[in-house]
Amino acid sequence: MSRNAYIVGTGHKVPDGVLTNADLEKIVDTTDEWITTRTGIKERRKTDDDTATSDLVAVAVEKAMKDAGWKPEDVQGIIVGTVTPDYCFPSTAALVADRLGLGTVPAYDFEAGCTAFIYGLVQAKAFIESGMMDRIIVVGADCLTKITNWNDRTSCILFGDGAGAVAVSSEGPGGRLGGWHWGSDGSLGKHLIQPGGGARRPASHETVDLIEHTIHMDGSRIFKHAVRAMRDSCMKALEKDGTEKKDVDLLISHQANLRIIDATARALELKPEQVYINIQKYGNTSAASIPMALDEAMRDGTISTPNTVVLAAFGAGLTWGGMILHWDE
Ligand code: COA
Repeated sequence: MSRNAYIVGTGHKVPDGVLTNADLEKIVDTTDEWITTRTGIKERRKTDDDTATSDLVAVAVEKAMKDAGWKPEDVQGIIVGTVTPDYCFPSTAALVADRLGLGTVPAYDFEAGCTAFIYGLVQAKAFIESGMMDRIIVVGADCLTKITNWNDRTSCILFGDGAGAVAVSSEGPGGRLGGWHWGSDGSLGKHLIQPGGGARRPASHETVDLIEHTIHMDGSRIFKHAVRAMRDSCMKALEKDGTEKKDVDLLISHQANLRIIDATARALELKPEQVYINIQKYGNTSAASIPMALDEAMRDGTISTPNTVVLAAFGAGLTWGGMILHWDE
């Protein structure tokens, strides 16, 4: 009998600190009206100086394990998608595995920008369906406010911090991981980049003076690519799944810009109530945005059984991806 992978628990954590559009008006030349109409964002969460990505991840994972009814010894692996790990090494996943007493399970970080959570689900599906694992934690987490240039009004208004986690099991019931699509195009990578601090431009006084350790982004170029990539990923994932647009109940898209989410929803011919939106509260939380929204949608009853849910994302790399989830038993 073929094996399936199911999401059997979800959890998320955002920091307490709230940064509103009115707060940003005091930092850069912008207005609440511009941010709201161009992005849909009203406020975002910001970590304090003492809080890093692993602190949010640990809480999100604890919640997902509790939701799944898992004890530490049930977990066979943990993978964390992030571009803002606590350190270049050791990995955030290893730090959290230690903090939560998960023992010596495999633990690693991987990077696919804001698409990371979907990349993580594809990995978990492969591990479980191949029989390599039965229970794995997949996390998407980022603290982009740590690498934000607070003088750049075109980017600093977008980002917030958060973490989302899911427990994925070979045993349902739960959200079955179905058809998927993932891709990348590194030729476009320069349009969304943190140029300094890596092996190409190691941290130096010069890289700091040039603010190269922050996000550098060509927003309108990314916007156009995102609309196309998210639409194509959804369609290819649906095709692989053998599901038609008319059978989709809900879209949970990466929360980058309300106008990008609307364009994806239009391509899927969805009604407004079939699109999960929380960007107004959190902004763009990068790898965390989909698992955070998924957790909220599970807990507030938006997702019920039976339900077919489409996940869609794009991000740095550039990367993109889509996955279909079925709550069907
Ligand atoms: N407040 C006020 N005005 C602003 C502004 C701000 N925060 N940011 C930019 N502007 C101005 C620009 O300077 C420009 O002015 P000009 O016409 O006088 O030159 C004008 O608004 C329009 O700028 P533009 O960049 O064309 O706006 P836009 O509609 O493309 O919106 C983004 C900008 C960044 C919101 C949008 O491009 C976007 O969301 N892109 C995707 C970014 C993203 O998701 N990145 C992460 C990927 S995971």
